[in-house]
Amino acid sequence: MCGIIAYTGGQQAVPVLMNGLRRLEYRGYDSAGISVSSRKKLRTWKSAGKINVLDSQLPESIKAQCGIGHTRWATHGAPTDENAHPHTDTEESVTVVHNGIIENVDALKDKLTVEYKSETDSEVLAHLLSQTIKEKKCSLIDAMREVLSRVVGTYGIAAISAEEPEKIVLARSGSPVIIGIGEGEMLAASDMSALSRYTREVVHLDDGEVAQITPDGFEVTLLDASPTDKSSMTLVSNIEDYDRGGYEHYLYREIVDQPDTVRRTISGRLDKRFNTARLGGLNMEARDLLQIQRVKILGCGSALYAGMAGANMIESLSRIPCDAEPAAEFRYRNPVIEASTLYIVVSQSGETFDTLAATREIQRKGGFVLGIVNSVGSTIAREVDGGVYMHAGPEVSVASTKAFTSMLSVFSLLAILLGRSRDVSPQRGAQLLLALEQAPDKIADVLALETHIADIAKEYANSHSAFFIGRTSAYPVALEGAQKLKEISYIHAEAYPASELKHGPLALVCAETPCVVVLPESELLDKSMGALEEIKARGAPVIAVTDSSNKRIDKLADHVIRTPLADELVQGMVMGVALQIYAYHSAVALGRDVDQPRNLAKSVTVE
Ligand code: AGP
Repeated sequence: MCGIIAYTGGQQAVPVLMNGLRRLEYRGYDSAGISVSSRKKLRTWKSAGKINVLDSQLPESIKAQCGIGHTRWATHGAPTDENAHPHTDTEESVTVVHNGIIENVDALKDKLTVEYKSETDSEVLAHLLSQTIKEKKCSLIDAMREVLSRVVGTYGIAAISAEEPEKIVLARSGSPVIIGIGEGEMLAASDMSALSRYTREVVHLDDGEVAQITPDGFEVTLLDASPTDKSSMTLVSNIEDYDRGGYEHYLYREIVDQPDTVRRTISGRLDKRFNTARLGGLNMEARDLLQIQRVKILGCGSALYAGMAGANMIESLSRIPCDAEPAAEFRYRNPVIEASTLYIVVSQSGETFDTLAATREIQRKGGFVLGIVNSVGSTIAREVDGGVYMHAGPEVSVASTKAFTSMLSVFSLLAILLGRSRDVSPQRGAQLLLALEQAPDKIADVLALETHIADIAKEYANSHSAFFIGRTSAYPVALEGAQKLKEISYIHAEAYPASELKHGPLALVCAETPCVVVLPESELLDKSMGALEEIKARGAPVIAVTDSSNKRIDKLADHVIRTPLADELVQGMVMGVALQIYAYHSAVALGRDVDQPRNLAKSVTVE
């Protein structure tokens, strides 16, 4: 998705902006640009393609201490030089970068008689701002408030004006904008990754706020110009958290970091005195937990699959009916909201539009929403009624890995908490805590299988299609395994519950379709073995991922990835890591862009 960076202060702006753009690259983009202001003049460079293309077009030395930059993900108009941001008015007195979509762009354009240089919806903002400044003889921030009162849509905006050389005006409605506070300098970005090198002191804008930054400070107002009392917060992440840690890919670093990230997620949350979990941010008393009649989990993509796994854990330990549903489907089907249902939204970024919209729909109808979020201070984290941070640290690679296992860790904690508030005995509670505590070491054991898994991945890297099969709790693991493989290797991959095979997918199972079967040790193992037989009978190569020592698996499968035996509660997160390694090595064998897969964005902030 699009990214914004803005800088005003004592340093040269261009290196800061270019560094910010590089930090935003991981979000996915197809063009980039910057505008700087100095001596009451604005200069803009922009181009389709990667940031290096833009870099190669910049003059040797550009002296300016204020500017804005943008990475664009095409929505209105193709990825061309003209459509790249920043956009300017005809006289180049104002430049604007914009994330989001202006829905009433045609109506706004009709009111202007200017020649548009691009096909974007965003360009109209530059013309409207410039016209308003001229007509009303007002400042950029006043013009911004006036223009935005006429705009329908979503936006995160940064704008500069030639007349106010040190000022940057920002606005937010539905698309994140974060102000970064430095010493004698101020920044703004749509994503913390672009600010982390300069500051950890930030202010998150809320929807309907318009702000202005100068080297000395910030001022946040509402659209009607009334002041706000926004204060800053300090984030704990470091610049190193956004690095590849010496590895070739962020994804690899994020996979191998998982023993640590899961440890961080559960740290301080295992209550051994009462053999339960301690989750301070829930904003729910023990008595409230007892009132819950149903749990509904909402998320998108991998967060949804983590939610499906979480639903199994919660229902099985607490015996409270629980299910997971795609956030977008939920919000569009006019759902019945019940006071006795606990709604849980899951999101790594905390900015996914559909998950946020589902949160608001539930709250509007009076429901209570808990958030499981990784990104501290993100919109969802700020809007939910209670929540649990994952503490997995920034996830940079587009494909989610460490956030997935941290989501499962949080669900394990919640399942223990809800289970212990009902039928789970203190003894079983103690076993579950131990299982969770040992999970990081088991993940480390899976990481040690890398060479074996990589060999299998390379053998099947040229397949056109792959199937991932799992039963009950293993099904979400299979879904996530297929998701990882298709996202980063572009091999077509589908996941099915074992029981569904003979109801359709078997028609496609043949010698050319490797089938990854997730076989956790459980009372259903024998039943799942039936699926293995069915696949084998069609001549398909079988890759069994199992923590069982059952010898039949070795006989039937072509390859066995044997993960350490784990409690049912954590089997998914331990086995899931094996599937991440499989996907990673498939993608590497095919020479794919592992961290920025085609057509995908890290944080989907539009519908
Ligand atoms: C994961 O690999 C995906 N890129 C994607 O499905 C992601 O999980 C989804 O967009 C939800 O993102 P969120 O966790 O930031 O809400």
